[in-house]
Amino acid sequence: MEARTSVIQKRVEHIQHIICIASGKGGVGKSMVASHLALLLSKKGQKVGLLDLDLYGPSTHVILGIKPDSFPEEHHGIIPPVVQGINFMSVVYFTRDKPGAFRGEDISNIILELLAITQWGELDYLIIDLPPGIGDEILDVIHLLPQSRFIVVTTPSKVALRAVEKLLRILKEVEVTLLGVIENMSHKKDHMVTDFCTREAVEYLGRIEFDDSLEDAIGLPDKLQKIPLHESMKKINEKLVFSSLKYHKDQT
Ligand SMILES: Nc1ncnc2c1ncn2[C@@H]1O[C@H](COP(=O)(O)OP(=O)(O)OP(=O)(O)O)[C@@H](O)[C@H]1O
Ligand SMILES: [Mg+2]
Repeated sequence: MEARTSVIQKRVEHIQHIICIASGKGGVGKSMVASHLALLLSKKGQKVGLLDLDLYGPSTHVILGIKPDSFPEEHHGIIPPVVQGINFMSVVYFTRDKPGAFRGEDISNIILELLAITQWGELDYLIIDLPPGIGDEILDVIHLLPQSRFIVVTTPSKVALRAVEKLLRILKEVEVTLLGVIENMSHKKDHMVTDFCTREAVEYLGRIEFDDSLEDAIGLPDKLQKIPLHESMKKINEKLVFSSLKYHKDQT
């Protein structure tokens, strides 16, 4: 394990920022946020990687319209294909989009393998889309890539926030940096999530309203960049810029 850990650190040594998108509950919009963030950073001229680590429900390839038919090129490791300017890597290349049951050990092995063989090269940002909750994937990423910083996505619901509370405790315990919380699919102008962030002393990064035009744009990157959700993500990215000097430096 330890030898592989140092191989992994070598693989990511030329990546400036590793940003993980996590959530307490499932289905709150992590993959959507991860895909849009990767798209917009790439259009801003940043070198971006997107890594989908959701073994049971990889979805960023669906959102970005990437067909995982062929395994990426291999040359001393695997080279992520570049799609929409994004260096894209996903567990889907390993699982081939087939339904499968994975035990904890399988999950850790796939993640280890993926991180150990992917040649990212130089990147300004690596965005990692995680499955919901606190499972092996998130714990492995924290262990293998301790420099990762986290963005947590939630909907304005007591149920979702209760799960976020737990996630924040764990992130605090393991001392990873939380960049802030995004409120997604917001539908009413109440203060549930902003109040929550104040109470928890974490940064509120902004809100994305429920977007009726999203479904028709899935799989079509050009269309995705024209919907209101993308505009909200741009505002959130600006906020991220201001919330961390280090994050800011590379986008100017
Ligand atoms: N702002 C929004 N407006 C409308 N629909 C949305 C919005 N955000 C996400 N969705 C839809 O909600 C569903 C869940 O989104 P997504 O897959 O990004 O969530 P997730 O948190 O990644 O889910 P999982 O926990 O399963 O990985 C998708 O069908 C997506 O199209
Ligand atoms: Mg997802």
